[in-house]
Amino acid sequence: MRRLDRRSLWIAAAGAAALGVALLLVLVLAQRRDADHLVNPIAATPESIAVGESVYRAHCQVCHGVSGRGDGPAAAALNPPPADFRFHMAMGHTDAQLFRWISDGIPGLGMPAFRRTLTVDERWHVLNFVRRTFTPVEE
Ligand code: HEC
Repeated sequence: MRRLDRRSLWIAAAGAAALGVALLLVLVLAQRRDADHLVNPIAATPESIAVGESVYRAHCQVCHGVSGRGDGPAAAALNPPPADFRFHMAMGHTDAQLFRWISDGIPGLGMPAFRRTLTVDERWHVLNFVRRTFTPVEE
């Protein structure tokens, strides 16, 4: 009888662990789906854009250039060169896509990940700045 008790205890524990893993998986997947629908939670106020500009000047300008053309001093070493924001921002990328590129970088393309360097808010501020500042211009 004792033996049986112990066995059912093990079975119950294994069941609980399996359930926990399944639950975790569901949560992770749900969060991932959520990430695809992320919308910038920070309104593009002048204050947000100002914070975004200082983030840009400090962390992005070296590659993406003063006016977002992808012609910063570090760009010459990159192949392909950094995106020209004047056109890329007009291409209809979603907030979620842009936020993910800034957070995780673009593997193989020289775009670094800023997940550890910038806070979540700083990443949204810089996106506000980039989106509102480097609009397409007539050449
Ligand atoms: C070391 C150089 C470098 C730095 C620093 C850098 N980038 Fe990039 N970035 C790149 C390269 C290279 C690409 C890929 C080129 C492309 O997508 O056309 C890229 C692509 C991007 C894209 C995707 C553009 C698109 O539409 O395809 C975004 C958005 C972006 N960078 C934002 C930023 C922001 C914001 C910062 C600062 C927080 C930053 N980058 C800092 C090099 C850099």
